[in-house]
Amino acid sequence: MIAKKLSEMLNEQINKELYSAYLYRAISNYYAAKGLKGFSNWFAVQAGEELDHAWKINGYLIDEGVVPVLETISAPVGSFDDLRAPLVAAYEHEKFITSSINEIFKAADGEDDYRTKRFIGWFIDEQAEEEKNASDLVTEYDLFGSSSQGLFMLDSKLGDRK
Ligand code: FEO
Repeated sequence: MIAKKLSEMLNEQINKELYSAYLYRAISNYYAAKGLKGFSNWFAVQAGEELDHAWKINGYLIDEGVVPVLETISAPVGSFDDLRAPLVAAYEHEKFITSSINEIFKAADGEDDYRTKRFIGWFIDEQAEEEKNASDLVTEYDLFGSSSQGLFMLDSKLGDRK
């Protein structure tokens, strides 16, 4: 049976993933209002993935015989200083999520909970990808975002994400 401390950490992670979905939907809304449909699409798709993450953990707790407690989700920031700011906020947020996932892995290791370690291993791989995507976006914005042509190109590319 999963340790109480570990199940509580996973329960909190559900909330963090739901907050991520909220944050990315707010960013998507921000870009939609700016007329950048591709950026908006990118973050809308990401918001959907975050919901999947939350429910994946929810399902794991159920399988472990724990009933998840769904807590209040904090309101995300919805206004930003400029077009670059949400990209930086997303990258910083992904780094925060990575450290949270790592803490769960560390706790599972301390409990000799091999099943939870395997489960959370999926999230460790996922975070590597998400952090890279978020970091790449900041880099690409810095390379291309200062000209309207570059911004158009980047927006078109981000619009392809499904
Ligand atoms: Fe589910 Fe982007 O962390």
